[in-house]
Amino acid sequence: MSIKNLDQLYRSVIMDHYKNPRNKGVLDENNVTVDMNNPTCGDVIHLTLKVEDDIVQDAKFEGEGCSISMASASMMTQMIKGKNTSEAVKIAQVFSDMMLGKDVDDSLDLGDIEALSGVAKFPARIKCATLAWKAIEKGVGQDDEQ
Ligand code: FES
Repeated sequence: MSIKNLDQLYRSVIMDHYKNPRNKGVLDENNVTVDMNNPTCGDVIHLTLKVEDDIVQDAKFEGEGCSISMASASMMTQMIKGKNTSEAVKIAQVFSDMMLGKDVDDSLDLGDIEALSGVAKFPARIKCATLAWKAIEKGVGQDDEQ
């Protein structure tokens, strides 16, 4: 596939998640809630999780923000559901490495999040893409706040 076609494919994956967000809403039976914002633009995310037996059983988000931040949140919830908390953190770290332009393990199935790889070329947008991933890291207690 040419770079141009790949860019178009990635763009359409991002717009699909933005227009048809997966796991949008608030989980009634949550035991973890996280609120994050991007102070530079005011975008917000409210993440609710149901974590049981160290597994992220369910996840939903609400928020307001640009297409990249909301698409990234949709992809994040899709990706971490059913994972254990350390797997969720690992995926968040892989995503963060991807945003820093680092090579990531080719053997990992990145699913739709690969569509955000191009954001690494636009430093001003990296915070947009990482907002939801900071929320999941915080939510599963890897920031020592829990
Ligand atoms: Fe605010 Fe993207 S412009 S998160």
